[in-house]
Amino acid sequence: MGLLDNKVAIITGAGSGLGRAYALLLAKEGAGVVVNDFNAENAAKVVHEIEVNGGRAVAAVADVSSMAGGESILVTALEAFGRVDILINNAGILRDKGLANLSEEMWDAVVNVHLKGTFCVTQPVFRWMKDNKAGGVIVNTSSSSGLAGNVGQTNYGAAKAGIWGFSNSLALEGKKYGIRVWTLVPAAVTPLTANVLPSELSQSWSPERVAPVILYMVSSLSGDKTNRTIFASGTKIMELKMVSGPVLSNPGGLTARDIAASDKDLFLDDKGLDFNP
Ligand SMILES: NC(=O)c1ccc[n+]([C@@H]2O[C@H](COP(=O)([O-])OP(=O)(O)OC[C@H]3O[C@@H](n4cnc5c(N)ncnc54)[C@H](O)[C@@H]3O)[C@@H](O)[C@H]2O)c1
Repeated sequence: MGLLDNKVAIITGAGSGLGRAYALLLAKEGAGVVVNDFNAENAAKVVHEIEVNGGRAVAAVADVSSMAGGESILVTALEAFGRVDILINNAGILRDKGLANLSEEMWDAVVNVHLKGTFCVTQPVFRWMKDNKAGGVIVNTSSSSGLAGNVGQTNYGAAKAGIWGFSNSLALEGKKYGIRVWTLVPAAVTPLTANVLPSELSQSWSPERVAPVILYMVSSLSGDKTNRTIFASGTKIMELKMVSGPVLSNPGGLTARDIAASDKDLFLDDKGLDFNP
């Protein structure tokens, strides 16, 4: 028996890298998988791989960055499988440049695919889950570049931090309808990152090693957990959380000079987040 027998999962950007690994694992666990990608050839290849292994899959060739694209993915899922239980927003691109040289086109391309794309695919699926009182699980993909920053990625970082904000709010909205929402911060050597991550990591940081974290999130293994953010590479996983530091307070308010005089007590230590292997 699979962990996802009778379930249906939509995975965006599943023609390559992480999305492909998620699609193969979820299909192996019994899910019917909707393989979205705007690259039709890659989507068809993944569907074929799943079917050859005895799984159920259908391609949904669409651009996630428009509402028409998002709606068409849900229609494909309903026509092929009659329902949707799981959505993994994963499609993505990079257009890296320092801010001084970043063009409007590079800003729009990245924000449209990641942030707007997450909205465009999620809204129809969320509505379907809500209207059908079906519950469900939605995973949104953020990035260490969004939560901790990275040089040359103001566009990508803004989109990925935006997705985190979207996810946090959606998790609160979803509670009432039994819709669980996670944020995943992955790290893996894929076509997207092959030029930036050292090639020695390609074995240990493979997409196949991130996929089990997705399976945990979307299956009954994670119980009723929701509204959590997990960093997952091939070698470690950890929860990421916003924390508040020590409180400076004064019933009469604090002047700028008061703050400066006590700021050694205000800031958390600056050791940052350790995303290294
Ligand atoms: N690989 C990493 O280390 C890493 C780190 C942090 C975040 N991420 C995120 O994980 C996700 C998957 O990345 P990956 O590394 O597997 O990259 P990848 O390039 O291997 O796969 C991304 C897929 O998305 C598809 N895609 C792009 N734009 C699309 C659109 N508008 N509509 C439909 N499909 C589209 C591409 O065709 C591709 O198949 C992305 O959101 C990425 O930002 C990856």
